[in-house]
Amino acid sequence: MATNDSAGSARLMQAYAEARPKSAACYRRASTVLAGNVGHDLRYFQPVPLYIERGKAGRKWDVDGNEYVDFLMGNGALLLGHADAEVIEAIAAAASRGTHFGNDHPLQIEWAELILKLVPSAERIRFVNSGTEASHLAIRLARAFTGRSKLLRFEGHFHGWHDDVVHGFQVPFNADGSLGVPASVRQNLITIPDGEIGLVEQVLSQDPQVAAVILEPSGASWGRVPIDVEFLRRLREVTAQSGVLLIFDEVVTGFRFSPGGAQQLYGVIPDLSYFAKIVAGGLPGGVVAGRKEIMSLFEQTGVPHHDRFERVTHFGTFNGAPLSAAAGISVLKRVASGQAIGLADARAVQLRAAFNDVLARHQVAGYVYGPASTFHVYFETNPERLKRAHRAEDLRTTDAKLLKGMPAALVTQYQRRLRFHGVDILSSTGGVLSAAHTERDVEEAARAFEQTATGLLEEGLIHRL
Ligand SMILES: Cc1ncc(COP(=O)(O)O)c(C=O)c1O
Repeated sequence: MATNDSAGSARLMQAYAEARPKSAACYRRASTVLAGNVGHDLRYFQPVPLYIERGKAGRKWDVDGNEYVDFLMGNGALLLGHADAEVIEAIAAAASRGTHFGNDHPLQIEWAELILKLVPSAERIRFVNSGTEASHLAIRLARAFTGRSKLLRFEGHFHGWHDDVVHGFQVPFNADGSLGVPASVRQNLITIPDGEIGLVEQVLSQDPQVAAVILEPSGASWGRVPIDVEFLRRLREVTAQSGVLLIFDEVVTGFRFSPGGAQQLYGVIPDLSYFAKIVAGGLPGGVVAGRKEIMSLFEQTGVPHHDRFERVTHFGTFNGAPLSAAAGISVLKRVASGQAIGLADARAVQLRAAFNDVLARHQVAGYVYGPASTFHVYFETNPERLKRAHRAEDLRTTDAKLLKGMPAALVTQYQRRLRFHGVDILSSTGGVLSAAHTERDVEEAARAFEQTATGLLEEGLIHRL
C-alpha cells in the first residue's frame, strides 16, 4: 500500500481487497510463477489485479463474484461484447474440424477476402498473430521497399512492444521505453510531436534515410490525444512527395472507427496499414495490408537460395490460424453492414454525455471526449490552467504532454475507485464500448463514475472549476 494514501484512500484499499479474497489467493499463486506477477504490464494493479472468470455482452465477473461493466473489452478486441453467440458458434464449428494444421485453409482466404473488401488501401494482406507482430512486419516491409532504414514516429503513439517502437510512447518521450533495447535502435528512430506538418517536412527534407512515417490515425492512444484530420491529409501529401511510406496503425481504429477503419472514415489512404484485435474476432491475430506493389515483396520465385536475398521473409506458426479466421469472419461480416459499429458509437455518445453530466453537476475541472466508440477522461491538474479556466470548454487541449501526463497517482486512484464501484476500463482514464453495451450499462457506469469523481474530489486528487 502506498504510504502517502489518505485515510479515505487507505479504507478504499482495504475494502477493495476484502471484497476479493479469491483474487488475492490467485495473486499469491501468480507471484510464484508469473514473471512480473501478471501477463501484461497494464494488468498490474494494487492491491490486487483482476482475475476474471467469465463475461457476457458488456459485463464480466471476477473470481470473487464481483460484477463489472466492462469498457476494457478484451483490450478493445471485442466489438460485439463478450461471448457473442454467433462468434462462439463459428469458433466451435472450426475447432471441431481441428485447431491448427500448419497449412493454409479455405477460411483464411475468406477472411482475407472480407478484409480486402472492407479496407480501402488493402490490395493484398498478410496474416500475423498480434498488433506488435503486425507493426514489426509493416516496418520491415517499408524498409525493404524503400531501401532506407529510419522510422519517423510521433510522441505518445503506441505501436506494440518490439524494439523499433518501444521508445517514445510514454512521458517523458525522450527516455528509453525499456531496458534491453540496443543503442543502435535509436540511430534509426526519429520521434517528434504530431500535428506539426512543418516539422515533418523539415525532418524528411534533411534526412533521406527515412523509410516510413508511422502513426495512430486517431491520434495517440486511440484518440486520447486528438489529431487534426488536416494533419493526416498533409502527411499523406508530404510522404508521397518524399517517397516515404505512410503506415497507419489501425490496431484499435480498425473495424471500430468505420467498416474500413480510420482510413475510410478520414478519407486518407496509407501505403501500409495494420490491424489486430477486432480483425480476429477476439482471438489472437493480426493483419498487414498494403499496396500490391509493396506486398509483392513477399512473393517467391521458387528458387529458395535466391528468394532469401531478394524478398521479405516471413514465418509464423499460427499465421491465419483456423479459429482466429472463423472468429474474424464472423465479426467482420457484422462489421460490413455498419450496424455493430453504429450501435457501439451511439452507446458511446450516451456514455460520454452521462459522464460529462456528472462532471458538470459536481463542477469538476475536466471533460470527457473521444472519437467513435471510445471515451477518454481528462482531469485538469495544472495549477496555471486551473486558475484560468471558468468552464470545461476552457480546459480543452490537444497538448500530448498534458493529456498523457496526468499524475500517475490520480490515474491509479481513478482506476481503483472505478473498479471498486464496478467499472473496468481499457487504459489510463478511458475505455471502449461494444455493440452489446446497454442503456443500463451506461446508467450504472455513470453512477460508478459519479462515486469515483466525488471520491477523488474528497481526496484532493481532482479539482473544482
Ligand atoms: C494502437 C496499437 N498498436 C499496436 C498494439 C499492439 O497490439 P498487440 O497488443 O496485439 O501486440 C496495440 C495494443 O494495444 C495498440 O493499441
